[in-house]
Amino acid sequence: MAEKTERIGFLGFGQMGSAIAEGLAEFSPDVKDGTLRMAAWAPHGDKLKKRIEDGGLPVEICSSPRELAETSDWILLAMKPDQLAGAAEGIRDLLTGKRVISVVNAVRLERLREILGDDPRIQYVLPNTPMKVGAGVALFEEETGLTEDELARAKRWFSSIAEVVVLPGEKIAAAASLSGCAPAFFFMAAEALGDAGVKHGLKRADAYRLAAAVMSGAGSLLAEELKAGAHPGALKDAVCSPGGTTIRGVSSLESDGFRSAWIKAVDATLG
Ligand SMILES: NC(=O)c1ccc[n+]([C@@H]2O[C@H](COP(=O)([O-])OP(=O)(O)OC[C@H]3O[C@@H](n4cnc5c(N)ncnc54)[C@H](OP(=O)(O)O)[C@@H]3O)[C@@H](O)[C@H]2O)c1
Repeated sequence: MAEKTERIGFLGFGQMGSAIAEGLAEFSPDVKDGTLRMAAWAPHGDKLKKRIEDGGLPVEICSSPRELAETSDWILLAMKPDQLAGAAEGIRDLLTGKRVISVVNAVRLERLREILGDDPRIQYVLPNTPMKVGAGVALFEEETGLTEDELARAKRWFSSIAEVVVLPGEKIAAAASLSGCAPAFFFMAAEALGDAGVKHGLKRADAYRLAAAVMSGAGSLLAEELKAGAHPGALKDAVCSPGGTTIRGVSSLESDGFRSAWIKAVDATLG
């Protein structure tokens, strides 16, 4: 039996909302076969229209948050935390029986219920922007207001653009530091490798391409090997031959406090 078509309405369509929509448009079989349709509303209509047109996104524009709430089966809240309560106020009476996914950072289910009421069935998901290219991480809070069937659908949509990880609410902040903040650390590492490549005569563009390919290749290899129970340290050992060049680089990173710098960076994100 063909699945019912559902519409997901993005309330807020900035960096994160558009990254999710771009990823779904490109990678979600449900969007491709038309069983998941997308709509959006944001306060600055011109900006919203430009974003959708520039990305060639299959996203319908709603004329108001109320139209979006009335015409959508699912509402995806993607505005800043301090904008959430105000935005919710305007549509609260329309949420009975609706499904809500909130990606608003650090506002977990219990607080979402205080803001939105008990009527909608709610899920807190913490995404990251690599979803745009189908390679994100979606942290699902374990406690959910969705039914089993709805949760399965939400996970299926996010699985098409992300690694879905379900965690107790109190663990999400630490995980978000790795999935949401660490991309910036990797971009810094790529920039530094770019400088190193240029220092040793490579063109900057080539050095960045190498850095990106190495990061994504190492990430894919690690993900695959973890399934077989491997340890990241073992993968590092496997590319360090005795007395070779790589172990000299590893030793240099160690003497510059590489590991503790990363651990301290995560500490810093958690305040
Ligand atoms: N960016 C990330 O990497 C990331 C990662 C995890 C979670 N998040 C969470 O995702 C949410 C959005 O972040 P972002 O980076 O996408 O921010 P952003 O780029 O500033 O986008 C915010 C969006 O919310 C809209 N907005 C403002 N007031 C609104 C209202 N009253 N009702 C509906 N929409 C409203 C803005 O519209 P206008 O532009 O028209 O004003 C804009 O489209 C935040 O809660 C953030 O914590 C972001």
